[in-house]
Amino acid sequence: MFFPTLFSLFVVSPCRSDDDESSVDIYDGLDNSLIVSDDLVTKCTPTRICLNLFDEILIEEGTAKEATYTDLQAEHEKCQQQLQELVKKFKEIQAQNSTLQNENQSLKKNISALIKTARVEINRKDEEINNLQQRNDDREILLECQKKGPSEKAFVSIAARLNKSPSQVSERFKQLVKLFKKSSCK
Ligand SMILES: *[C@@H]1O[C@H](CO)[C@@H](O)[C@H](O)[C@H]1NC(C)=O
Ligand SMILES: *[C@@H]1O[C@H](CO)[C@@H](O)[C@H](O)[C@H]1NC(C)=O
Ligand SMILES: *[C@@H]1O[C@H](CO)[C@@H](O)[C@H](O)[C@H]1NC(C)=O
Repeated sequence: MFFPTLFSLFVVSPCRSDDDESSVDIYDGLDNSLIVSDDLVTKCTPTRICLNLFDEILIEEGTAKEATYTDLQAEHEKCQQQLQELVKKFKEIQAQNSTLQNENQSLKKNISALIKTARVEINRKDEEINNLQQRNDDREILLECQKKGPSEKAFVSIAARLNKSPSQVSERFKQLVKLFKKSSCK
């Protein structure tokens, strides 16, 4: 768009106005060279100068365009390389993400399995402790009743030691006697 305007501005309208014999030389010289000889310049002609100017501008613009194109191409290549690197990194991160998620799921499963096992184990131990405690209490009750006879006084004293009520101790003593009778009858 720029060049036709320039061309018409310099060449067509104002420069052609001194339309004499020199105009012939001018158009002959066009094909031959871009160099403005002193001869030609003095002889004529704004037209000659204008044409040379125009050529120079064209060449300059062309060079500039070429440079810009090369720059842009280099830039484009750089951008594409960066993009490729980013895509690669993104894929790596995605892979890492899914690895971590799998690990996460696996750890969650393992932890809940561990917790379940631990709960079962704790319950088992609690039961074991209760049984041991019971056996210990039973032993105390039996020993004391053997020593002093199964009196109310003995139950009160045992209850104080075992941190229970006398009626609990008395009840347990009855149960133990029953169990003992059962097992000895067999
Ligand atoms: C990682 O995974 C989560 C859950 O699926 C998702 O929201 C996130 O966008 C992922 N990130 C990448 C970089 O893939
Ligand atoms: C793993 O799980 C935890 C708890 O649900 C969550 O906060 C975290 O973002 C998860 N991590 C990944 C990488 O999925
Ligand atoms: C979860 O437990 C399984 C089986 O014991 C094991 O193979 C796996 O490596 C564990 N997962 C993690 C993330 O530790």
